Amino acid sequence: PPGNPPVVSVLGKNFNTTKDWFNVPVNVLKATSRQLHLQNDHPVAITRQIIQANFPAPTYQCYNDFHPVVSTQQNFDSLGFPPNHPGRAKSDTYYINGSNLLRTHTSAHQADVFRQNSSDGFLIAADVYRRDAIDRSHYPVFHQMEGARTWDRTVMPGGDVAAAVRLDTEKLGTHDVVVEDPNPPYHPERNPIQEGHTEAEVTAIGQHLKRSLELMVIDIFKRAKMAAAQVDPDFVDEPLRMRWVEAEFPFTSPSWELEVYYEGNWLEVLGCGVVKQDILNNAGASTRVGWAFGIGIERIAMLLFKVTDIRLFWSQDERFLTQFEGVSANLDKLRLFKPFSKYPAARRDVSFWLPSSSSSPSAAGGNTGRSFHENDAMEVVRRVAGDAVEDVSVFDDFTHPKTGRRSIAYRIVYRLHERTLTAEEIKDMHDKVMAALVEDLGVEIR
Ligand code: PHE
Repeated sequence: PPGNPPVVSVLGKNFNTTKDWFNVPVNVLKATSRQLHLQNDHPVAITRQIIQANFPAPTYQCYNDFHPVVSTQQNFDSLGFPPNHPGRAKSDTYYINGSNLLRTHTSAHQADVFRQNSSDGFLIAADVYRRDAIDRSHYPVFHQMEGARTWDRTVMPGGDVAAAVRLDTEKLGTHDVVVEDPNPPYHPERNPIQEGHTEAEVTAIGQHLKRSLELMVIDIFKRAKMAAAQVDPDFVDEPLRMRWVEAEFPFTSPSWELEVYYEGNWLEVLGCGVVKQDILNNAGASTRVGWAFGIGIERIAMLLFKVTDIRLFWSQDERFLTQFEGVSANLDKLRLFKPFSKYPAARRDVSFWLPSSSSSPSAAGGNTGRSFHENDAMEVVRRVAGDAVEDVSVFDDFTHPKTGRRSIAYRIVYRLHERTLTAEEIKDMHDKVMAALVEDLGVEIR
């Protein structure tokens, strides 16, 4: 694998790298300077603004420029991730050194904001980084919005948070969308009511949380519908369907996910729950109880603007960027993305034998062995081909019955949004991908 530079600079801050940990490729490092959520009239920024509009000041205070490099303490420990949690693995997370990484979620800032925040709620929008598969809905960098709302027990009449929370829920107003599973039962061991919380409190906080997020999703879909009706007068509007499902996070209990029915599938749009009391206690806010949520901005932006390939958000092509001019200043001017001509895709296959020592994937990824992790192959393709790669999928995976060696075959789809790739460029890129797979992962091309 390519060596590590001794020092990397991220948004004006320098960090020493360590050889055992550093795994951030140049294209990902470069993306840290883009901050799409702050770029005026960019769909990611517009979507952030729409979400923000649903959580107004002064109750909610916005934090949109936290630095992307955080400590393992912030990203994991402060949130109660156990030491062996798979999210910590080098196969899933971009590390600068053993104690600094590119945040994998906006929750990394929860504890800090609970400590410093003086209002009852907050929102945090930021770029987040995850090693992952390559396809039209996954990119190693994306954006999230974190939100939280807490109530101070000591200032409640009679110390009763539940009554005050119920009152605040009434103030949110109602809606008439049928939520198909408004109250899924939650597992008493996976998702217990926390020590020190009463059932009445958790019920009230859960209702405030759900109502707030349902209203936000309804607002988003109302805007999407208006934008669609503008371009297509015959547009028939399918009624919005939502449901709640139980979820599990190390930093909330109980926890839920909100799913929305979209083009035939239930799509997970956000995770949330009652904040673990330890986080508040450790942040000097032990008298407070409340909820938090995290939502992926691109996923919402793809629905809102009808963008079907996540790479487009990173395009600097004027044909993309000029389409949304003026929307940041007036969110009611939201327009759907008008696709520009699609250039042809080129499919190329590569199959290889894994080095015999690494045929079984290690349980937690780990940072010691040389075992093969699919994300490692994805990363190699991404590093060589950059945004010219649209999709990578496994089409064959078998282990030789006699030798025990494992062979994997990938199909790579190359395509640019801006122009047609020449046959030479494709061949050159694919040759380089194969060479890099051999070089970095020690595989043997078949
Ligand atoms: N951080 C979680 C994720 O990235 C989302 C989340 C945020 C869940 C806050 C609960 C509370 O998946």
